[in-house]
Amino acid sequence: MSEEAIERVTVLGAGTMGHGIAQICAVAGYEVVMRDVAQAALDKGIAGITKSLDKFVSKERLSADQRASALSRIKTTESLEDAVRDADLVVEAIPERMSLKLETFRAVDAHAPAHALLATNTSSLSVTEIAGATGRPAQVVGLHFFNPVPIMKLLEIVRGLRCDDATIERAKAFASSVGKEPIVVNDWPGFATSRLGIILGCEAIRMVEQGVASPADIDKAMELGYRHPMGPLKLTDLVGLDVRLAIMEHLYAELGDQFRPPTLLRQMVRAGKLGRKSGEGFYTY
Ligand code: CAA
Repeated sequence: MSEEAIERVTVLGAGTMGHGIAQICAVAGYEVVMRDVAQAALDKGIAGITKSLDKFVSKERLSADQRASALSRIKTTESLEDAVRDADLVVEAIPERMSLKLETFRAVDAHAPAHALLATNTSSLSVTEIAGATGRPAQVVGLHFFNPVPIMKLLEIVRGLRCDDATIERAKAFASSVGKEPIVVNDWPGFATSRLGIILGCEAIRMVEQGVASPADIDKAMELGYRHPMGPLKLTDLVGLDVRLAIMEHLYAELGDQFRPPTLLRQMVRAGKLGRKSGEGFYTY
């Protein structure tokens, strides 16, 4: 595998995670292409990046020039082929459906340069299975970022079964270049972060179901008693109840009963209570 330096990063998906990843790459000096399937999604992504950069400028953590040059380094496109053609690193941040990931990685593998590293931001799906859709599984890695991407320090690097050491080293160097602290975790359902984070969220929802305490008091228990920056129910509202349910379904299938999704969560998702993005979850926004 080529050891070419990473200069051009392509991010697939302009949603919450995708646009956050595009932003930190541009701020770090990479030439970035952000791809989504619709112009409206790209516009929303750029608006999110602009808003976040403005926050950094207003706090004097970024200069107006740095903001402008970061924005000028981000190009957008709806074409996957155009997006990956010159990429040194492709980071996929599309919806968490395995069939969609496999189809996307097949297409990326066909059009990205042979030296390019291919990464998935999946929070629980099998990186090994995703890598299997390509002809270069040794160069496929999990790069799991956290929301809000510009603020959270961790980058969980997930090593699939056929991933090689050179890829892990390139991934670690990339993590440092975008100001993140990496951990390297072997590919196992839920990795290190989601497996622990989800079990806490799952149990908190069961406690609401059982009437143990109010959502506010359960959150306060972890915020003041354990110094978590936000309680597990507020965090579920931030991440999205539908997103957390999908991860639970997957971990339930892979790891067993401790991840069985609470009925209350299923009902809330059916009712459209998805958290902050829908205006209501365990709290009202
Ligand atoms: N861009 C720029 N700045 C941002 C920002 C963004 N997107 N989001 C927050 N900030 C800034 C705020 O402006 C604020 O800056 P100052 O301290 O300088 O004023 C700072 O970050 C803190 O924000 P707030 O004051 O609004 O609120 P807070 O202190 O509660 O922090 C938080 C917000 C950073 C989200 C914090 O509550 C937190 O760390 N929560 C936990 C988040 C978490 O666990 N994320 C992981 C989710 S799981 C995941 O992402 C992976 C998955 O697989 C689904």
